[in-house]
Amino acid sequence: MISYRVMEAGDHEKCIELWKVTEGMGFIESDTSDSLRFYLERNPGISFVCHNEDNLIGTILGGHDGRRGYIYHLAVKKEYRGNLIGKTLVDLSLDKIKSAGIQRCIIMLKSDNEANANFWLKNGFDRREDLNMFSIDL
Ligand SMILES: CC(C)(COP(=O)(O)OP(=O)(O)OC[C@H]1O[C@@H](n2cnc3c(N)ncnc32)[C@H](O)[C@@H]1OP(=O)(O)O)[C@@H](O)C(=O)NCCC(=O)NCCS
Repeated sequence: MISYRVMEAGDHEKCIELWKVTEGMGFIESDTSDSLRFYLERNPGISFVCHNEDNLIGTILGGHDGRRGYIYHLAVKKEYRGNLIGKTLVDLSLDKIKSAGIQRCIIMLKSDNEANANFWLKNGFDRREDLNMFSIDL
């Protein structure tokens, strides 16, 4: 049976297993157990996991900074795709972000992940051609 619940810090190991085999998902230094715990503490109840029985098959990290919502690490295990699990995870997270009073949510996708860019377009997100993204390592 498919079930959804809020992500907990203890889900880290299973999440990493999924993220490591998910295409287009940068496995980065921010994916440590401590950084996930920190993220979930700062953004309680906005990140979710999906299970089939005891197997973790989907994840989403959701949060906001008081101004914009952000979604990271939406992933659905390959053999379970096409069953609205990705959309359900996005809806769960967006509901929480919206109920926190946030009016816009942002997803950053690597530019070589065009296949999955269409998922966001299909699910109500607009492509922002007017923005460039900049970052600095601290
Ligand atoms: C993107 C991803 C999460 C979609 O998960 P999923 O569970 O298969 O998606 P859903 O079944 O919920 O699809 C919801 C809708 O989007 C559509 N859709 C799903 N993937 C799509 C894609 N790649 N392109 C276009 N539409 C897509 C579905 O057809 C469905 O539309 P419908 O209701 O009209 O049939 C999954 O393919 C994945 O894990 N991709 C790799 C990781 C990734 O790129 N994540 C995003 C970066 S954070």
